[in-house]
Amino acid sequence: MRFYFSFAIKLKKFLKIYDNKNNSISAIKEIFGGKFGKAKNILIEEFLVGEEMSFFIVSDGINVKNFGTAQDHKRVLEGDKGKNTGGMGAYSPVPLYESQKEKIDETIIQPLADALKEGRFSYKGVLFIGILVDNDIPYVLEFNARFGDPEAQTILPRLKSDIVPALIACTEGTLDQISLDWEDSFSLCVVACGDSYPQSSSRDKEIAIGQLSEEAKLFHAGTKKTSDKLLTNGGRVLAVVGTGDSFETASESAYRNIEKVNFEGMDYRKDIGWRVRSKCQSI
Ligand code: GLY
Repeated sequence: MRFYFSFAIKLKKFLKIYDNKNNSISAIKEIFGGKFGKAKNILIEEFLVGEEMSFFIVSDGINVKNFGTAQDHKRVLEGDKGKNTGGMGAYSPVPLYESQKEKIDETIIQPLADALKEGRFSYKGVLFIGILVDNDIPYVLEFNARFGDPEAQTILPRLKSDIVPALIACTEGTLDQISLDWEDSFSLCVVACGDSYPQSSSRDKEIAIGQLSEEAKLFHAGTKKTSDKLLTNGGRVLAVVGTGDSFETASESAYRNIEKVNFEGMDYRKDIGWRVRSKCQSI
């Protein structure tokens, strides 16, 4: 049991992880001593270490369908170092899912589907489940009632079916009549941000975009258009997604195409997909 030796404190935007008993006890004393105002209750969560993945489902309130997996790279610097961000890049599908499929289905998805069917829980739309696999056990970190980026940008280029009928079916309770078909492909997304992200955003720098190759997609995030220019207007400015028949070709496309984009101070991680690029050609 690791409950006693580590816990996370979540107060609005403040998240701190304590990984030993003495620090944890000092932190509890600080909390009840009024450091963050008057405290009555605290939530102590098990400290988990492992590989994270984002798992998506869609639901019409009765039926659920899997909507793919992606692995986000949250840290700003290569080697998964530096500050946390909204996501510096991602890849899809996640090979880790293959080894965890049955456990995820049995312990997370099926109980959710049963709760929906039995009316114990009501939800229609896209559900983004943050999963962490620790010691070969998948844990739910969070449920988000939305798509997430860069995950959605990475997953959607692999969807062969039209997404609109699926979303309408979510609202009408007819998801069981819809089939979702996926490309037998791999995708990798690289996010371009300003060089001081995540401390500050990039503003009003002119963006130049060259001719991207056909298999690549470019998604705008923090951009704005004036009458004749495209300008930066946010932290994560845009993302380039490459697809291919392996992670190597997808990443080669994403990195070749992001070079066709430019703005002053543009930065991006060069190691997106490091877990899969060198070892995993097919799953
Ligand atoms: N990329 C993580 C999120 O959208 O929450």
